[in-house]
Amino acid sequence: MLDLERQYKPLRQELLNAIGQVIDHRQFILGEEVAGFERAAAAYLGVAHAVGCSSGTDALWLALAGAGVGSAGTVSQGRAGMTVVTTPFSFFASVSSILRAGATPAFADIDPSTFNLSPAAVEKVPDSERGAGAKAILPVHLFGQCVDWGAFSRIGRERGLKLIEDAAQAWGAEWEGKKAGGLGDAAAFSFYPTKNLSAAGDAGMVTTNSAEIAERVRMLRQHGMRQHYHHEELGWNARMDSFQGAVLQVKLKYVDAWNEARRALAARYEALFKKAGLAESGAYPERGVVLPREAKGARHVWHQYVIRAPRRDALREFLTAHQIGSQVFYPIPLHMQQALTGLGYKEGDCPEAERAAREVLALPMFPELREEEQKTVVAAIAEFYS
Ligand SMILES: Cc1ncc(COP(=O)(O)O)c(C=O)c1O
Repeated sequence: MLDLERQYKPLRQELLNAIGQVIDHRQFILGEEVAGFERAAAAYLGVAHAVGCSSGTDALWLALAGAGVGSAGTVSQGRAGMTVVTTPFSFFASVSSILRAGATPAFADIDPSTFNLSPAAVEKVPDSERGAGAKAILPVHLFGQCVDWGAFSRIGRERGLKLIEDAAQAWGAEWEGKKAGGLGDAAAFSFYPTKNLSAAGDAGMVTTNSAEIAERVRMLRQHGMRQHYHHEELGWNARMDSFQGAVLQVKLKYVDAWNEARRALAARYEALFKKAGLAESGAYPERGVVLPREAKGARHVWHQYVIRAPRRDALREFLTAHQIGSQVFYPIPLHMQQALTGLGYKEGDCPEAERAAREVLALPMFPELREEEQKTVVAAIAEFYS
């Protein structure tokens, strides 16, 4: 699925030099490398503020709490009952962060063509969930493609809802020329080692154009203090370490080239599947596979290349037997996760997400993937369906 050695080998000396500087000054947490990366990231994304933190999961919690969603930060002042509408088809952190912020998630189904939260489905969430108590929408730019931001910004404006982007998988992705991370009230990024821009460990970031939210996030990531041992709010330890800041500063210089390489690989997969006569034109797979598409208005950065496949589990076993990596993101939709049974959802509540969970398969996708490897993947899939 991913060979990180191909990324790290050419960068080895540059990374060691950057890490060496941290060892020399020994300001291991929130050091100059973190501040430097925050400045560079804000400039890259075109946002006013970027705040480094310990993970994408913490970034989501910080973004929600910083934007005043839920009761986190303040030791419940009667604000529990706030609802945040989100997608059932994402990584668990997209929803656990809402609960951890002291709010209640409400799920709306996905758009089958992009796997992203559907604005039309969000509008159908009953008023009891979306109405008086609703405070925010948390759409996820899944697999590296922005949600339909035009529609979400209209819904947010009309209903007075905050918009918090889960941009964990979307570093460098754009909506109508504007980068993910600068679209909503606040956004969360993950630099988990498999991401398009990745740390050598756990790290994350909150971005926002609001000075007020940025200030609050900086305080919350450091136990709610501006001044040592004066705790204004109930924060947490969610700081970024300087080694990660150093690594991320180095890698930021290369991320555009890596994202371009991913786009070229996606185009080649599409050409190879079409040439093999395997690509279906409909929304769901019948005999061939449904290829992922770039939506109008979106600039996809292909964090994952996810097809829909008939007999998906058998195909995956076949690929594994041929030593070809693949992954299922995500096999169980969030509304059906055991940990969330208390929310009261059941099978059938989000049929598109449930169908996607049965059909999706992510194929190898990383900037250094080779043409002959892609040909091997497509040839193996052709063999399976023959
Ligand atoms: C959509 C999404 N949200 C949140 C996260 C959480 O990020 P992290 O693993 O850095 O905590 C991830 C990462 O896996 C993710 O893919």
